[in-house]
Amino acid sequence: MAWKLIVNQCGNHASRRGILANLLTIAIVFVPIVFGPEMIHARDVTKPNIVIIGTGGTIAGAGSSAANISAYESAKVAVDKIIAAVPEMGQVANVRGEQIFQIGSESFNDERLLKLAHRVSDLLKQPDVDSIIITHGTDTLEETSYFLNLTLKSDKPVVMLGAMRPGTALSADGPLNLYNAAVVAASPESKGKGVLVVMNDEIHSARDVTKTSSLKVDAFHSLYGPLGLIVESKAYFYRLPARAHTLATEFDIDQIQALPKVDVFYSHVNMDPAALGAIAALGGKGLIYAGTGNGAVADYMEDALKRVRAGGDVVVRATRTGSGIVVRNGEEKDDENDWVVTADQNPQKARMLLSLVLLKTTDTKEIQSLLYKY
Ligand code: SIN
Repeated sequence: MAWKLIVNQCGNHASRRGILANLLTIAIVFVPIVFGPEMIHARDVTKPNIVIIGTGGTIAGAGSSAANISAYESAKVAVDKIIAAVPEMGQVANVRGEQIFQIGSESFNDERLLKLAHRVSDLLKQPDVDSIIITHGTDTLEETSYFLNLTLKSDKPVVMLGAMRPGTALSADGPLNLYNAAVVAASPESKGKGVLVVMNDEIHSARDVTKTSSLKVDAFHSLYGPLGLIVESKAYFYRLPARAHTLATEFDIDQIQALPKVDVFYSHVNMDPAALGAIAALGGKGLIYAGTGNGAVADYMEDALKRVRAGGDVVVRATRTGSGIVVRNGEEKDDENDWVVTADQNPQKARMLLSLVLLKTTDTKEIQSLLYKY
């Protein structure tokens, strides 16, 4: 139809200007459809290509006033809008957005986690994708990042970030976290370091990082300190992750279509053994017992925990303290009860790891050595 317009105009001795205007219209309408939006914004071949996957969270949140720092709705703003608010990223990379979910990260489940992980894996295989950034709610960022760190088979940088304040707030932290994530994702030094988490000017290993505050901008900490810092648009690394990740693990996301169910039981004063039994009856394959202190099991809970193991669930003792390793056969009779212990992983990270380990083995000795390994 557009072509006919030009021919008609020529036949009517239309001005050259008219023909050019029609050609321009065709280019504007059809080129993006045929070649995609990247044709319009030509890539800078000297810069890495980064895909930014949006999943929701506070970084995509909006409050009704700039004074709403903690009261807001999360997962509202599309990733392309979040990207558009940080044009400075164009100085370090060619970026494009992809919206996979628009959810608060508390709503991640195995299905969503696997969908995200498979998409990241597919993108990492594309030769024209150099790095991935994932914007994610902060609440479960440590779990998603640990899972990806253990299962992705690539040494390309994968950088995750979130925000503690919505974009509408005074002193919103999302734009700088995103810019810093782009700096890290574009840095050749980020290659081969596993999944990285960038928050509040720091670069953390996905293995170690955990959220330690419900509100503070300085919410993310690693037990052994961050791997590095971002200062004035440059990533500085000072440490390396010691534990196996990505290419060096036996877990391959492309082989994983479902995960065994693993639950966490959180201990406290005056527990009800029936509650533990009820969780175990839900059909899980493993149970993380987040014990007090060194993963201690209350005397009145011991029989219930033994029954969980006798029922077939793998029982892993972890600690609710937030740091320190759980000592095997220290206070508890792990050999006798056929229980396993975590190394230093917190209960939610131990849950993630156990679900992967259970894909490989149900032998408790092997499970123990894999929990120590990662
Ligand atoms: C969420 O985790 O989705 C909400 C909280 C946040 O992103 O900080």
